[in-house]
Amino acid sequence: MSGTADKTFYLETFGCQMNVHDSEKVIGTLLQEGYRQVPTVEEAGLILYNTCSIRDKAEQKVFHRLADYKKLQAQGKKFGVLGCVAQQEGEKIFERAPHVSMVCGSASYRNLPEMLVQIETGNRSTGLDDRATDHCFETEYTARTNPHRGYITIIEGCDKFCAYCVVPFTRGKERSRTSSSVLAEARQLADLGYTEIQLLGQNVNSYRDPDGKKSFAELLAAVGEVAGIRRVRFTTSHPRDFGRDIVDVLEAVPTLCDHVHLPVQSGSTRVLDAMQRLYTRDQYLERISWIHAAQRDLSITTDLIVGFPGETEHEFEQTLSLLDEVGYDSAFTFKYSPRPNTPAIGLDDAIPDGEKAWRLAVVNEKQKQMSAHRNKRHLGRTVEVMVEGKNPRGQWIGRTSQIKVLNFTVPEGVELKTGSYVDVRVTASFSNSLVGEMVSAARGS
Ligand code: 5AD
Ligand code: SF4
Repeated sequence: MSGTADKTFYLETFGCQMNVHDSEKVIGTLLQEGYRQVPTVEEAGLILYNTCSIRDKAEQKVFHRLADYKKLQAQGKKFGVLGCVAQQEGEKIFERAPHVSMVCGSASYRNLPEMLVQIETGNRSTGLDDRATDHCFETEYTARTNPHRGYITIIEGCDKFCAYCVVPFTRGKERSRTSSSVLAEARQLADLGYTEIQLLGQNVNSYRDPDGKKSFAELLAAVGEVAGIRRVRFTTSHPRDFGRDIVDVLEAVPTLCDHVHLPVQSGSTRVLDAMQRLYTRDQYLERISWIHAAQRDLSITTDLIVGFPGETEHEFEQTLSLLDEVGYDSAFTFKYSPRPNTPAIGLDDAIPDGEKAWRLAVVNEKQKQMSAHRNKRHLGRTVEVMVEGKNPRGQWIGRTSQIKVLNFTVPEGVELKTGSYVDVRVTASFSNSLVGEMVSAARGS
C-alpha cells in the first residue's frame, strides 16, 4: 500500500451549475492525484469550498463555513477556497481566515495538481490567473455526480461586463472549446449511458468555435443528433447574442428541450442601459416573439434584478408589465447586491433594502400567478418525463422537457428506474409543479 490511502478530501459547492460542474472536474483531478472523497468534514484531511460571489449573501456563506470549522485546523486539517470568492478576494482570504492554505480561482484549476503538492508540504498555495487566461479547464477525468444528465462546458468566462456582475472578473475572459472536443465529450457521455446533456457557459450564445467549424446553433443541433441522446438543454443565453437560428434548430431537432432560459434583468430600457445589457426592452421582446412563434410549445424562464441603483417606481412597473407581456413559466428573482470591482459599485442612488424587498415580493407574487396560469395549460395533457427519484410522499418525481417538475403516481407494484422516461398524464397543477399519473413507459425506455 502506498501512503496515499490517508489523503482524503471533502468538497462543498455553492452557486450555479457552472460551479457544480467545475466541482465534478476538480473531484476528478483530486481522485487522479490519489485523494479519496469523503462525505463529512470530520473525516477529511483537506476541506474545500467551491464558492460563489454573485451576491453578497453567497459570498458570506463561505466565510461562515470557514469560521465554523476553524477549530479543526488543530487536528491538522487543511482548508482550500476555490471558485469565484477565491478569485475575487485572492490573498486577502489568508488574512481573513488564516487557517486557509489554498486559494484557487476557476481559471487556475489546471494548476491544481502542483498546488496540492505545495500544500501537502506545508506551504500556502495561490492560483489566481486573471482575465487574461486563454486556457480552458480540460480534465482527463470528470467525476460526474448525476448518472443520467451530463454537463458539458462549451465556453468559459464572460466578456459582457454587465454593470452589476462579478463574473467577468472572477471567471476571466471568454474562451470557447472546439466543437470537435465538445462533440467527442457528448459521444463519450452517450456511450456511458447518459441520455441528457446540458451545455454550459455564462453566455453560450457568444460561443465561437476556435476551429471555425460550427456556430452555437449548429453545435446545439449536432449535440442533439448524437445517437443515444434524448434531451439537450443549454444555459445561459444572453439576449443580445441570442439569434433566430437558435429557435430554428429548436424547431428542427426533436431532442432539444422545449425550453429557453433568457435572462432579461429589467423591463425598462433606461435601466437595461444603465446595467450595460446591450439591448432594449423592444429588442428583448423581439426575441421573445421568435420563441412565441415557434411551432413547438417552448417554456421561457428568466432572471430578474429589482432595485438596481436609480430604478424608479415607474421603471420597476415596466418590469412587471414585461412579465405580463412575456408570460414566463418561471423566473429567478434577485435584489440588487453591490459587488466589488463592478462598474455599478460607483453608482449612487442606492435603493433602501426595505424598498428592494418590497419590489421583490411584488414581482414574486406576480410571477407566481403567471407560473400557475402557465402550468394550468398542461392539465389533461400527456407529457414525457425523465424519472428523477421519489418525493417524501412516495410519489415519483419527473422532469418534463419544458423543465417543469411533475410528481406522479404509478399503478400498484410498478417500480421505475431513475433516468428512465415515462409518459404521464397531468391531473393537477400548481405554481411550481405539476401532478399526474403514469400512462406508459415512453418509447425507447
Ligand atoms: N445582484 C443581484 N443579482 C445579480 N445577478 C448577477 N449579479 C447580481 C447582483 N450583483 C443575478 C442576475 C444573473 C443571475 C445569475 O444572478 O440576474 O442573471
Ligand atoms: Fe454576468 Fe452579464 Fe456575463 Fe451574465 S452576461 S455572466 S450577467 S456579465
